[in-house]
Amino acid sequence: MEGKRKIRIINVVGARPNFMKIAPLMKEYKNYPEIKSILVHTGQHYTREMNDVFFDQLEIPRPDINLEIGSASHAVQTAEIMKRFEPVILKYKPDVVLVVGDVNSTLACALVAAKLGVKVAHVEAGLRSFDRQMPEEINRVLTDAISDYLFVTERSGLKNLKNEGFPKKKIFFVGNVMVDTLLRNLEQSKSSTILEDLKLHGKCYTVVTLHRPSNVDDPIVLGALIEVFEKISQELPIIFPAHPRTRKNIELFGFMKKISETKRRAHPASDGRLRVIDPIGYLDFLKLMASAKVVLTDSGGIQEETTILKVPCLTLRENTERPITLEIGTNKMVGTDPARILAAFHQVSENSGRRCRTPDLWDGYASKRIVEILMRN
Ligand code: UD1
Repeated sequence: MEGKRKIRIINVVGARPNFMKIAPLMKEYKNYPEIKSILVHTGQHYTREMNDVFFDQLEIPRPDINLEIGSASHAVQTAEIMKRFEPVILKYKPDVVLVVGDVNSTLACALVAAKLGVKVAHVEAGLRSFDRQMPEEINRVLTDAISDYLFVTERSGLKNLKNEGFPKKKIFFVGNVMVDTLLRNLEQSKSSTILEDLKLHGKCYTVVTLHRPSNVDDPIVLGALIEVFEKISQELPIIFPAHPRTRKNIELFGFMKKISETKRRAHPASDGRLRVIDPIGYLDFLKLMASAKVVLTDSGGIQEETTILKVPCLTLRENTERPITLEIGTNKMVGTDPARILAAFHQVSENSGRRCRTPDLWDGYASKRIVEILMRN
């Protein structure tokens, strides 16, 4: 129809875990000529390794707008995003603002949209760790509270939203967009040379990632974790792609020296057993995870990805907002107590390769369902 106004959807990304969630949605919009999709990047993550590499590998279009927020305290970061996002909404007059996940950018942009009377769609709604010490939990609860479309990845999310009194008509169980991205890229990731580059053999190493403030900002907690990693690495080499926050603190607290000393003590041919490396791109990380014997992490997304890859995962936290990964996946909650981590490591490394069910609707079609629902409504 000539002159008919297109449906305008502003999509928001800010930090690394947002990129794999938005990628399949941006692709899906292309099947709908009646949609005009606009991509806004808040700039919360901005370095090549935390940002650009994901846009390149996942073929995410260049953002239409970059708010160039950068790093700051939670209050400043959230407030600055809000200030800079408001004029974007006033200019583009979207019908929907779609936000993903639980980072500061998610909440900040949802809040601006809701206050201007624009509908908010939240992808990954309903997840709850019930731990308000986690900045992400606050972001989740508040974003859900002001969203009009609550797109849920797992059944616990449905239960949480029901318990919190959300009307049924706002809630949609659609599956997991991050799994859409994983399944789409799995084949391609097989040609990554990361194992050769790091001189590793499949199923003969452990992967560690760590970035939660509760694990990396306190020298006692981080020190105890590094110590247990050192112990594990004497049995199975560890590759530890370190988030910038983690790397900064490892250096600040003087742990890098300790790690290097372990390296020197290790067998000369082993190139060090506990290896802290820079963050790596999506395809390399997928290959690294898929071929690992065990993964140790405090990331939410990695708990889900290892569930699909059927690689044993030990979660270094006391709670998870993704309980489905514990119920049917290979994930195990082990907290931060060294003895508990070590015992769990021994247990899972002996029992790896278990076959488990895949969570409902984690089938590669979540983004298709989301866009269909948005169009229907
Ligand atoms: C943010 C999210 C967290 C998510 C994580 C993934 C919030 C509250 N937290 O935490 O949920 O799991 O991203 O990484 O939104 N930095 C760089 N380069 C960058 C970005 C950051 O070096 O491109 C450094 C800066 O020193 C910065 C620190 O990392 O101070 C932390 O970045 P920030 O965005 O504040 O939070 P994250 O810890 O990354």
